Amino acid sequence: MKGRFIVLEGIDGCGKTTQLEHLVRWLPASGLMPAGAGVLRTREPGGTAFGQALRELLLHPAADVAPAPTAELLLYAADRSQHVETLIRPALERGDWVVSDRFSGSTLAYQGYGRGMNRLLIDQLEQTATGGLQPDLTFWLELSLEESLRRRRGETADRIESEGRAFLARVGDGFAQLAQHRGWRRVDAAGAPEHVSRRLEQVLLEQWSG
Ligand code: TMP
Repeated sequence: MKGRFIVLEGIDGCGKTTQLEHLVRWLPASGLMPAGAGVLRTREPGGTAFGQALRELLLHPAADVAPAPTAELLLYAADRSQHVETLIRPALERGDWVVSDRFSGSTLAYQGYGRGMNRLLIDQLEQTATGGLQPDLTFWLELSLEESLRRRRGETADRIESEGRAFLARVGDGFAQLAQHRGWRRVDAAGAPEHVSRRLEQVLLEQWSG
């Protein structure tokens, strides 16, 4: 692949979206990217038009059409497959850089650790959905459950976020384990957004400059 693939992972409220916006502005001027390369900002679920339809079904279904756990898992995999095949892989092959708000780590954290679904099955599905494509760098924006709940107070929770405290605690533990096993870069997300941004920049420069 000519381009580079960067992923931001973490529990809801960790500031992924803010940091993604920052990286998309910062990267072109960072000196890291070759001349002529673009930055593609994307997310899961919902990075493609098809995925956007799946996102609505997954996160905001009418009361009587919510998917059962295995159907939910397969829908996240379908979103990812479409995303990789039609958007991410072509962009990387062109030489563009891709920055995604979530990727396959989220399925392991939410459906694997959160829902307790079979992780071997999830690994196999990941392989099918991604065709073996892996991020070049994944950041885990670490935030405590208390701080996540505090930040999101007053916001309307989506279907997954509404699963309750014990579920979200398992997801948080899952991210910690995944970060360790998969070599993700852990970044403390509890501080001011500007501090988190500086830390991300630092890691990227250490990793890829020169
Ligand atoms: P977000 O894009 O606002 O972070 O919301 C996506 C929601 O979907 C979030 O609650 C996490 C959840 N999710 C999963 O449960 N599994 C997945 O594979 C992905 C990508 C997201």
